[in-house]
Amino acid sequence: MSFVYKSDPVRGRQWAEIFAREAPHLPFRIWPDIGDPAQVRFLAAWEPPDKLGEVFPNLQVLFSSGAGVDQFDLSALPPGLPVVRMVEPGIIGGMVEYVSWAVLALHRDMLQYQRQQRRAQWKAVPVRPAGQCRVGVLGLGTLGRAALAQLRSFGFDCAGWSRSRHQVDGVQCFAGQDELPAFLGRTQILVCLLPLTDETRGFLNAALFAQLPRGAGLVQVGRGPQLVPGDLLAALDQGWIADAVLDVTDPEPLPPAHPFWQHPNIWLTPHIASMTQPDTAARVVLDNLRRFEAGEEMVGRVDRARGY
Ligand code: NDP
Ligand code: OXD
Repeated sequence: MSFVYKSDPVRGRQWAEIFAREAPHLPFRIWPDIGDPAQVRFLAAWEPPDKLGEVFPNLQVLFSSGAGVDQFDLSALPPGLPVVRMVEPGIIGGMVEYVSWAVLALHRDMLQYQRQQRRAQWKAVPVRPAGQCRVGVLGLGTLGRAALAQLRSFGFDCAGWSRSRHQVDGVQCFAGQDELPAFLGRTQILVCLLPLTDETRGFLNAALFAQLPRGAGLVQVGRGPQLVPGDLLAALDQGWIADAVLDVTDPEPLPPAHPFWQHPNIWLTPHIASMTQPDTAARVVLDNLRRFEAGEEMVGRVDRARGY
Protein backbone atom coordinates (compact mmCIF):
# COMPACT_ATOMS: atom_id res chain seq x y z
CA MET A 1 0.00 0.00 0.00
CA SER A 2 1.42 3.46 -0.89
CA PHE A 3 0.63 7.19 -1.00
CA VAL A 4 1.46 9.22 -4.12
CA TYR A 5 1.92 13.01 -4.18
CA LYS A 6 1.49 14.76 -7.53
CA SER A 7 1.90 18.48 -7.09
CA ASP A 8 4.77 20.91 -6.51
CA PRO A 9 7.80 18.59 -5.92
CA VAL A 10 9.60 20.98 -3.55
CA ARG A 11 6.62 21.01 -1.21
CA GLY A 12 6.27 17.26 -1.84
CA ARG A 13 9.67 16.68 -0.25
CA GLN A 14 8.44 18.46 2.89
CA TRP A 15 5.37 16.18 2.92
CA ALA A 16 7.70 13.20 2.50
CA GLU A 17 9.68 14.10 5.62
CA ILE A 18 6.52 14.37 7.72
CA PHE A 19 5.11 11.11 6.36
CA ALA A 20 8.45 9.35 7.00
CA ARG A 21 8.36 10.55 10.60
CA GLU A 22 4.68 10.14 11.39
CA ALA A 23 3.56 7.27 9.13
CA PRO A 24 6.72 5.22 8.46
CA HIS A 25 4.57 2.19 7.57
CA LEU A 26 3.09 4.00 4.54
CA PRO A 27 5.51 4.42 1.59
CA PHE A 28 5.28 8.01 0.28
CA ARG A 29 6.18 8.57 -3.36
CA ILE A 30 6.43 11.73 -5.43
CA TRP A 31 5.11 11.66 -9.00
CA PRO A 32 6.37 10.36 -11.46
CA ASP A 33 8.26 7.91 -9.22
CA ILE A 34 5.11 5.98 -8.33
CA GLY A 35 6.42 2.43 -7.92
CA ASP A 36 3.86 -0.30 -8.50
CA PRO A 37 0.60 1.52 -9.48
CA ALA A 38 -1.47 -1.36 -8.10
CA GLN A 39 -0.09 -0.54 -4.63
CA VAL A 40 -1.26 3.07 -4.72
CA ARG A 41 -4.23 3.55 -2.38
CA PHE A 42 -4.04 7.31 -1.80
CA LEU A 43 -3.25 10.21 -4.12
CA ALA A 44 -2.77 13.88 -3.23
CA ALA A 45 -2.79 15.94 -6.42
CA TRP A 46 -3.45 19.34 -7.86
CA GLU A 47 -4.07 17.72 -11.26
CA PRO A 48 -4.59 13.96 -11.21
CA PRO A 49 -3.41 11.94 -14.21
CA ASP A 50 -5.93 11.26 -17.00
CA LYS A 51 -7.82 7.99 -16.73
CA LEU A 52 -7.18 7.90 -13.00
CA GLY A 53 -9.04 4.61 -12.51
CA GLU A 54 -6.79 2.88 -15.06
CA VAL A 55 -3.54 4.43 -13.80
CA PHE A 56 -4.29 3.57 -10.14
CA PRO A 57 -6.79 0.67 -10.18
CA ASN A 58 -6.86 0.33 -6.37
CA LEU A 59 -7.11 3.99 -5.41
CA GLN A 60 -9.21 4.53 -2.27
CA VAL A 61 -9.06 8.32 -1.71
CA LEU A 62 -8.17 11.33 -3.87
CA PHE A 63 -6.97 14.38 -1.90
CA SER A 64 -6.80 17.81 -3.52
CA SER A 65 -3.55 19.56 -2.64
CA GLY A 66 -5.55 22.81 -2.60
CA ALA A 67 -8.83 24.05 -1.17
CA GLY A 68 -10.55 24.03 -4.57
CA VAL A 69 -11.49 20.92 -6.53
CA ASP A 70 -12.65 22.62 -9.74
CA GLN A 71 -9.41 21.52 -11.42
CA PHE A 72 -10.71 17.92 -11.16
CA ASP A 73 -13.19 16.64 -13.72
CA LEU A 74 -15.35 15.07 -11.01
CA SER A 75 -17.56 13.30 -13.56
CA ALA A 76 -14.54 11.49 -15.05
CA LEU A 77 -13.29 10.10 -11.73
CA PRO A 78 -14.11 6.52 -10.77
CA PRO A 79 -17.65 6.46 -9.36
CA GLY A 80 -17.74 6.43 -5.57
CA LEU A 81 -14.09 7.47 -5.17
CA PRO A 82 -13.98 9.77 -2.11
CA VAL A 83 -12.58 13.21 -2.96
CA VAL A 84 -11.25 15.42 -0.17
CA ARG A 85 -10.38 19.12 -0.47
CA MET A 86 -7.68 20.79 1.59
CA VAL A 87 -8.87 22.19 4.91
CA GLU A 88 -5.74 23.10 6.82
CA PRO A 89 -4.71 25.97 9.11
CA GLY A 90 -2.01 27.32 6.77
CA ILE A 91 -4.31 27.89 3.82
CA ILE A 92 -6.96 29.38 6.09
CA GLY A 93 -4.47 31.77 7.70
CA GLY A 94 -3.16 32.94 4.32
CA MET A 95 -6.66 33.69 3.08
CA VAL A 96 -7.57 35.56 6.25
CA GLU A 97 -4.48 37.76 5.78
CA TYR A 98 -5.19 38.44 2.12
CA VAL A 99 -8.90 39.23 2.54
CA SER A 100 -8.14 41.46 5.53
CA TRP A 101 -5.50 43.33 3.52
CA ALA A 102 -7.78 43.71 0.48
CA VAL A 103 -10.84 44.85 2.43
CA LEU A 104 -8.75 47.29 4.46
CA ALA A 105 -7.12 48.57 1.25
CA LEU A 106 -10.54 49.25 -0.28
CA HIS A 107 -12.00 50.66 2.92
CA ARG A 108 -9.02 53.01 3.41
CA ASP A 109 -8.98 54.10 -0.28
CA MET A 110 -5.51 52.68 -0.97
CA LEU A 111 -6.11 52.30 -4.71
CA GLN A 112 -7.03 55.97 -4.85
CA TYR A 113 -3.83 56.86 -2.99
CA GLN A 114 -1.84 54.75 -5.45
CA ARG A 115 -3.38 56.69 -8.34
CA GLN A 116 -2.66 59.96 -6.57
CA GLN A 117 0.94 58.95 -5.90
CA ARG A 118 1.50 58.41 -9.62
CA ARG A 119 0.34 62.02 -10.14
CA ALA A 120 2.42 63.30 -7.17
CA GLN A 121 -0.88 64.43 -5.66
CA TRP A 122 -1.02 64.96 -1.86
CA LYS A 123 -4.70 64.79 -1.00
CA ALA A 124 -6.49 63.22 1.96
CA VAL A 125 -9.95 61.72 1.82
CA PRO A 126 -12.04 61.45 5.00
CA VAL A 127 -11.45 58.34 7.11
CA ARG A 128 -14.62 56.46 8.02
CA PRO A 129 -14.68 54.01 10.94
CA ALA A 130 -14.86 50.35 9.94
CA GLY A 131 -18.21 50.09 11.70
CA GLN A 132 -19.68 52.33 9.00
CA CYS A 133 -18.53 50.00 6.22
CA ARG A 134 -20.71 47.03 5.26
CA VAL A 135 -18.70 44.05 4.04
CA GLY A 136 -20.36 41.00 2.46
CA VAL A 137 -18.71 37.66 1.82
CA LEU A 138 -20.06 35.30 -0.85
CA GLY A 139 -19.48 31.82 0.58
CA LEU A 140 -19.76 30.88 4.26
CA GLY A 141 -17.47 27.88 4.03
CA THR A 142 -14.15 27.29 5.75
CA LEU A 143 -12.47 30.33 4.23
CA GLY A 144 -15.45 32.69 4.18
CA ARG A 145 -16.18 32.15 7.88
CA ALA A 146 -12.51 32.54 8.85
CA ALA A 147 -12.21 35.77 6.86
CA LEU A 148 -15.38 37.12 8.44
CA ALA A 149 -14.14 36.40 11.95
CA GLN A 150 -11.09 38.59 11.29
CA LEU A 151 -13.11 41.31 9.52
CA ARG A 152 -15.45 41.47 12.50
CA SER A 153 -12.48 42.06 14.79
CA PHE A 154 -11.73 45.27 12.84
CA GLY A 155 -15.31 46.33 13.50
CA PHE A 156 -16.72 45.98 9.96
CA ASP A 157 -20.47 45.51 9.64
CA CYS A 158 -20.38 41.96 8.27
CA ALA A 159 -22.73 39.76 6.27
CA GLY A 160 -22.37 36.48 4.42
CA TRP A 161 -24.27 34.61 1.74
CA SER A 162 -24.34 30.89 1.06
CA ARG A 163 -26.48 28.22 -0.52
CA SER A 164 -27.79 26.79 2.76
CA ARG A 165 -28.68 28.64 5.96
CA HIS A 166 -25.85 29.31 8.41
CA GLN A 167 -25.57 31.06 11.74
CA VAL A 168 -22.31 32.89 12.34
CA ASP A 169 -21.72 35.02 15.43
CA GLY A 170 -21.92 38.72 14.63
CA VAL A 171 -22.55 38.11 10.93
CA GLN A 172 -25.86 38.75 9.20
CA CYS A 173 -26.39 35.55 7.24
CA PHE A 174 -28.31 35.35 3.95
CA ALA A 175 -29.13 32.13 2.09
CA GLY A 176 -30.13 31.18 -1.43
CA GLN A 177 -31.14 33.12 -4.51
CA ASP A 178 -34.18 34.68 -2.80
CA GLU A 179 -31.99 36.49 -0.27
CA LEU A 180 -29.21 37.46 -2.67
CA PRO A 181 -30.69 40.89 -3.59
CA ALA A 182 -30.96 41.92 0.07
CA PHE A 183 -27.40 40.76 0.71
CA LEU A 184 -26.04 42.65 -2.30
CA GLY A 185 -28.09 45.75 -1.57
CA ARG A 186 -26.39 46.23 1.80
CA THR A 187 -22.85 45.31 0.68
CA GLN A 188 -20.31 48.09 0.12
CA ILE A 189 -17.31 45.76 -0.16
CA LEU A 190 -18.05 42.40 -1.75
CA VAL A 191 -15.66 39.47 -1.25
CA CYS A 192 -16.10 36.37 -3.40
CA LEU A 193 -15.04 33.12 -1.73
CA LEU A 194 -17.27 30.76 -3.68
CA PRO A 195 -16.03 27.55 -5.24
CA LEU A 196 -16.19 27.30 -9.05
CA THR A 197 -19.15 25.16 -10.07
CA ASP A 198 -21.67 25.23 -12.92
CA GLU A 199 -23.79 27.52 -10.72
CA THR A 200 -21.05 30.03 -9.90
CA ARG A 201 -19.43 30.31 -13.36
CA GLY A 202 -20.09 33.86 -14.59
CA PHE A 203 -21.74 34.75 -11.27
CA LEU A 204 -19.95 38.11 -10.87
CA ASN A 205 -21.68 39.79 -13.79
CA ALA A 206 -23.48 43.01 -14.74
CA ALA A 207 -26.79 41.93 -13.19
CA LEU A 208 -25.10 41.21 -9.87
CA PHE A 209 -23.02 44.40 -9.89
CA ALA A 210 -26.18 46.45 -10.54
CA GLN A 211 -27.60 45.24 -7.21
CA LEU A 212 -24.64 46.60 -5.22
CA PRO A 213 -24.76 50.19 -4.01
CA ARG A 214 -22.99 52.65 -6.31
CA GLY A 215 -19.25 52.90 -5.53
CA ALA A 216 -18.90 49.40 -4.09
CA GLY A 217 -15.56 47.60 -3.90
CA LEU A 218 -14.88 44.04 -5.08
CA VAL A 219 -12.41 41.44 -3.81
CA GLN A 220 -12.28 38.36 -6.03
CA VAL A 221 -10.42 35.44 -4.46
CA GLY A 222 -12.63 32.56 -5.67
CA ARG A 223 -11.86 31.47 -9.22
CA GLY A 224 -11.31 33.45 -12.42
CA PRO A 225 -14.22 32.07 -14.47
CA GLN A 226 -16.71 33.35 -11.87
CA LEU A 227 -16.09 36.90 -13.11
CA VAL A 228 -17.30 38.30 -16.46
CA PRO A 229 -14.37 40.61 -17.33
CA GLY A 230 -16.26 42.92 -19.70
CA ASP A 231 -18.99 43.44 -17.10
CA LEU A 232 -16.43 44.40 -14.46
CA LEU A 233 -14.69 46.82 -16.84
CA ALA A 234 -18.04 48.45 -17.68
CA ALA A 235 -18.99 48.71 -13.99
CA LEU A 236 -15.59 50.27 -13.17
CA ASP A 237 -15.80 52.71 -16.07
CA GLN A 238 -19.28 53.82 -14.91
CA GLY A 239 -18.00 54.19 -11.33
CA TRP A 240 -20.61 51.67 -10.21
CA ILE A 241 -17.77 49.62 -8.84
CA ALA A 242 -15.14 51.99 -7.50
CA ASP A 243 -12.16 49.64 -7.22
CA ALA A 244 -11.45 45.92 -7.46
CA VAL A 245 -8.80 43.64 -6.00
CA LEU A 246 -8.45 40.52 -8.14
CA ASP A 247 -6.34 37.51 -7.17
CA VAL A 248 -7.78 35.08 -9.70
CA THR A 249 -8.38 35.53 -13.42
CA ASP A 250 -9.33 33.57 -16.51
CA PRO A 251 -6.97 32.51 -17.93
CA GLU A 252 -4.07 32.31 -15.52
CA PRO A 253 -1.55 33.72 -16.14
CA LEU A 254 -3.40 36.71 -17.54
CA PRO A 255 -2.08 37.60 -21.04
CA PRO A 256 0.05 40.80 -21.08
CA ALA A 257 -2.44 42.63 -23.33
CA HIS A 258 -5.40 42.04 -21.02
CA PRO A 259 -7.05 45.35 -19.97
CA PHE A 260 -6.99 44.36 -16.27
CA TRP A 261 -3.20 44.82 -16.13
CA GLN A 262 -3.20 48.55 -16.76
CA HIS A 263 -6.59 49.46 -15.31
CA PRO A 264 -6.13 52.18 -12.67
CA ASN A 265 -8.99 50.80 -10.55
CA ILE A 266 -7.77 47.21 -10.43
CA TRP A 267 -5.15 45.81 -8.07
CA LEU A 268 -4.07 42.48 -9.49
CA THR A 269 -2.18 39.66 -7.75
CA PRO A 270 -1.12 36.34 -9.36
CA HIS A 271 -3.31 33.83 -7.48
CA ILE A 272 -1.33 34.11 -4.26
CA ALA A 273 -4.11 34.94 -1.80
CA SER A 274 -3.36 31.72 -0.02
CA MET A 275 -1.22 28.64 -0.41
CA THR A 276 -1.29 25.19 1.12
CA GLN A 277 1.45 24.93 3.77
CA PRO A 278 3.23 21.57 3.57
CA ASP A 279 3.77 20.97 7.28
CA THR A 280 0.18 21.56 8.34
CA ALA A 281 -1.30 20.04 5.16
CA ALA A 282 0.60 16.76 5.49
CA ARG A 283 -0.58 16.42 9.09
CA VAL A 284 -4.18 17.12 8.13
CA VAL A 285 -4.00 14.46 5.41
CA LEU A 286 -2.48 11.98 7.85
CA ASP A 287 -5.33 12.67 10.25
CA ASN A 288 -7.80 12.09 7.42
CA LEU A 289 -6.09 8.79 6.60
CA ARG A 290 -6.56 7.76 10.21
CA ARG A 291 -10.22 8.75 9.99
CA PHE A 292 -10.62 6.82 6.74
CA GLU A 293 -9.09 3.67 8.23
CA ALA A 294 -11.38 4.05 11.27
CA GLY A 295 -14.45 4.47 9.06
CA GLU A 296 -14.95 8.08 10.24
CA GLU A 297 -15.93 11.07 8.09
CA MET A 298 -12.88 12.79 6.56
CA VAL A 299 -12.53 16.57 7.03
CA GLY A 300 -13.16 18.34 3.70
CA ARG A 301 -14.98 15.48 1.99
CA VAL A 302 -16.39 16.82 -1.28
CA ASP A 303 -19.98 16.27 -2.30
CA ARG A 304 -19.26 15.22 -5.88
CA ALA A 305 -22.83 15.85 -7.06
CA ARG A 306 -22.74 19.42 -5.71
CA GLY A 307 -19.25 20.05 -7.08
CA TYR A 308 -17.58 21.34 -3.90
P1 NDP B 1 -16.14 25.57 1.18
O1 NDP B 1 -16.57 24.40 0.37
O2 NDP B 1 -15.82 25.37 2.63
O3 NDP B 1 -17.27 26.71 1.16
C1 NDP B 1 -17.95 27.06 0.00
C2 NDP B 1 -19.06 28.03 0.37
O4 NDP B 1 -19.66 28.50 -0.85
C3 NDP B 1 -20.18 27.36 1.18
O5 NDP B 1 -20.64 28.26 2.16
C4 NDP B 1 -21.26 27.12 0.14
O6 NDP B 1 -22.58 27.16 0.64
C5 NDP B 1 -21.05 28.32 -0.77
N1 NDP B 1 -21.62 28.03 -2.10
C6 NDP B 1 -21.19 27.14 -3.02
N2 NDP B 1 -21.96 27.17 -4.11
C7 NDP B 1 -22.90 28.12 -3.87
C8 NDP B 1 -23.98 28.63 -4.61
N3 NDP B 1 -24.26 28.17 -5.84
N4 NDP B 1 -24.74 29.58 -4.05
C9 NDP B 1 -24.48 30.05 -2.81
N5 NDP B 1 -23.46 29.62 -2.05
C10 NDP B 1 -22.68 28.67 -2.58
O7 NDP B 1 -14.91 26.21 0.42
P2 NDP B 1 -13.67 27.04 1.03
O8 NDP B 1 -14.21 28.12 1.88
O9 NDP B 1 -12.68 26.11 1.59
O10 NDP B 1 -13.02 27.63 -0.33
C11 NDP B 1 -13.76 28.47 -1.18
C12 NDP B 1 -13.00 28.69 -2.47
O11 NDP B 1 -11.92 29.59 -2.28
C13 NDP B 1 -12.31 27.48 -3.10
O12 NDP B 1 -13.23 26.63 -3.73
C14 NDP B 1 -11.37 28.14 -4.07
O13 NDP B 1 -12.02 28.37 -5.30
C15 NDP B 1 -11.07 29.49 -3.40
N6 NDP B 1 -9.66 29.55 -2.97
C16 NDP B 1 -8.86 30.51 -3.52
C17 NDP B 1 -7.55 30.61 -3.13
C18 NDP B 1 -6.68 31.68 -3.69
O14 NDP B 1 -5.47 31.68 -3.41
N7 NDP B 1 -7.20 32.63 -4.43
C19 NDP B 1 -6.96 29.72 -2.13
C20 NDP B 1 -7.90 28.77 -1.61
C21 NDP B 1 -9.19 28.70 -2.03
P3 NDP B 1 -23.09 26.06 1.71
O15 NDP B 1 -22.35 26.38 2.97
O16 NDP B 1 -24.54 26.32 1.83
O17 NDP B 1 -22.74 24.72 1.15
C1 OXD C 1 -6.54 26.50 -3.69
C2 OXD C 1 -5.87 27.62 -4.33
O1 OXD C 1 -7.64 26.13 -4.09
O2 OXD C 1 -4.67 27.85 -4.05
O3 OXD C 1 -5.97 25.94 -2.75
O4 OXD C 1 -6.50 28.35 -5.11
